[in-house]
Amino acid sequence: MHLKPVIAANWKLNHSPTDAKAFLQRFLAQSPKLNERTLIFFPSAITITTVIEGLRERPDVWVGVQNVHSEAQGAFTGENSVLMARDVGARVVLVGHSERRHVFGETDAITTKKMALIAQARLTAMLCVGETLEEREAGRTASVVERQLTAGLAELDDAQVASVMLAYEPVWAIGTGRTATPEDASEIHGVLRRALVSRVGEKVAAGIPILYGGSVNRGNASLLLAAADVDGLLVGGASLDADSWASIVRA
Ligand code: 13P
Repeated sequence: MHLKPVIAANWKLNHSPTDAKAFLQRFLAQSPKLNERTLIFFPSAITITTVIEGLRERPDVWVGVQNVHSEAQGAFTGENSVLMARDVGARVVLVGHSERRHVFGETDAITTKKMALIAQARLTAMLCVGETLEEREAGRTASVVERQLTAGLAELDDAQVASVMLAYEPVWAIGTGRTATPEDASEIHGVLRRALVSRVGEKVAAGIPILYGGSVNRGNASLLLAAADVDGLLVGGASLDADSWASIVRA
């Protein structure tokens, strides 16, 4: 099955509401509805309402949050809730991004809880997996991403697994300008697809988009997207500029 590519912008800790307004004005002026792509923006929690309002005329574009807390509510100062994300109109939640794992110490056990919570809230989770340079050089890439995938899906039933998205983001390729080759990406996406097949069977596994992320830009986007088992792109730095983003979504 050939999936409709999912092209997602992770703005990380960039773009205030004011920046986002200017971005959307410029981006929307040059990017009419694309039936053959699903677009997603992941702005910061503070900027998300501005983005959702700015896309009111474009229900084809999804908006998501970059993180939620592992509990739905309570005394957790500084955190954001999956229920609030849903209330504000977010449709997707990033889980286990490498910066969450490596800067904020998010463990596999935490991703297990978050994935379950997001499924219960009936939002789409985009689970990120990826190996560090050290793990890659030790030949452990496949086992690392399989472990992260298993943990992320541990508490989901098969119907819930069917609605997740995955993103393979090798840690050594994020923000470094060092991209995985399309062959590298295909190889690991294949590992993930086979792991999904053994979890939920061929048919469901074929319908789960697996995005590649890590130094994607307008120069390499179309080659990466053409690689086997690459069903989309998760873009950081190159999604911040409206013109660069507009050309990536057409890749
Ligand atoms: P860069 O595109 O800046 O390498 O970031 C990738 C990423 O982490 C997207 O989630």
